[in-house]
Amino acid sequence: VKILLVDDEKDIAEILTFTFESEVEAEFLYAETGNQAIKVIGENSDIDLIVCDYNMPDGNGGDVYKHLLDNNIDIPYVMCSSDQPQDHNVFSNDKLLLSNIVKPDIFSGVEETLKKYEEYSHKTEDKETTKMSRNDSEYSMINIVMLKNLTSLPADIFIKVSEDKFLKVYNKDASFTQEDEDKYLQKNIKKLLVKKNDAKSFVDSICGQIESMIEEANGKSNEEKVLDIHSVIMETVSTLGLSKEIVRATEKSVEFAMEVFKENKEFKGLYKHIFGHQGKYITKHSIALAYVSCGLLRQLPWDTFENRNKLTIASFFHDAAIKVPDFDEGTDFDEIPDSVKNFKDHPGEAAELIKKFKEIPPDVDRIILEHHEKPDGTGFPKGLGASQISPLGSLFIVAHAVIECMFQLEDQQEKLNMEGVLDCINVEIYSQGNFKKVIGALKELNLFA
Ligand SMILES: [Fe+2]
Ligand SMILES: [Fe+2]
Repeated sequence: VKILLVDDEKDIAEILTFTFESEVEAEFLYAETGNQAIKVIGENSDIDLIVCDYNMPDGNGGDVYKHLLDNNIDIPYVMCSSDQPQDHNVFSNDKLLLSNIVKPDIFSGVEETLKKYEEYSHKTEDKETTKMSRNDSEYSMINIVMLKNLTSLPADIFIKVSEDKFLKVYNKDASFTQEDEDKYLQKNIKKLLVKKNDAKSFVDSICGQIESMIEEANGKSNEEKVLDIHSVIMETVSTLGLSKEIVRATEKSVEFAMEVFKENKEFKGLYKHIFGHQGKYITKHSIALAYVSCGLLRQLPWDTFENRNKLTIASFFHDAAIKVPDFDEGTDFDEIPDSVKNFKDHPGEAAELIKKFKEIPPDVDRIILEHHEKPDGTGFPKGLGASQISPLGSLFIVAHAVIECMFQLEDQQEKLNMEGVLDCINVEIYSQGNFKKVIGALKELNLFA
């Protein structure tokens, strides 16, 4: 089928494309305004479905709908907006109105739309309506770096050899070694396939593995374990999504990390582990952030177990929406690669991601949402001022700035000391409200003794 997607927000168009593509085989046309959509409709006589936003500059969704009615163009129309059709008079003739996707709940709206479209094409069987062929791939992708963490594979593993041919490459219960990983990486294969029905058993095994990584005496130091576990969690979240099981395994890992931080009276030791670790940037950055934010908290009257827990969980997940684990957040805005085009949205996306889990304590989503705000109002996504940012959020922002500076100094092979860090973070902007207290705590914190 050919679907015309009309939305002035590129992100929404992308999410729609992705959601439709994962359900059906479709071809897409795009427009960003109502008038552009009308032009595209005029130029393409084979459009099967129109999914259209309402509020857009230069012609709204109502104009598009009216154009279809006035010109007897018989294409089913789906309204995709935070408004409802009944909010606008133009839809009182609902002849072409197939369904309604209510933002932000796009997934269930698309499901509903596909059901309605199937009914519609059934009814109009005599007419020429393109059937949607369901994308019935039975496989999910799995990142190969996750496989070697498993003592044995919980289910069969496949590769795709042609459009409809899949080859089993590992049997259930087989082991996947470092050599196996190297073999695939050399061929530039980073993902293998598992049957969709087996995806959950992989998540379960990975979570079990995370727990035994904590307990196992495998010659690794506790500091290394904290870093190893974080990278397994990030890999799992980015390929198989965040689920209740992963959240539970994270809770245990966070508890373990807090113990390790407490025993680590000298930052030097942990610091060496962090920079020496083979993990990706995101892991080093997140663990360093957890350590520094807990350290800052200890100097402040808000120091409680709950708050330490909140800051550590926030550190673990704060950049989980950046799907490129090597991406350095210190990168200049105009040099951010296309693969990280969600950079401005990543705090909001990560906050949304964790909000659904009641296992995650309150306020963690707010800390994450605020982590790129700045007290002078120049941050993102909201450009909040110092007084609008929560106390734990303020602490986290300072800790995040400290970590970025330390990574910068490390890169430039400069000597690390508090003077250098204070110089680099531009202390002046942090002279208001809670930030002032946090900077006071930072100066007390003996990071580089
Ligand atoms: Fe970050
Ligand atoms: Fe971030």
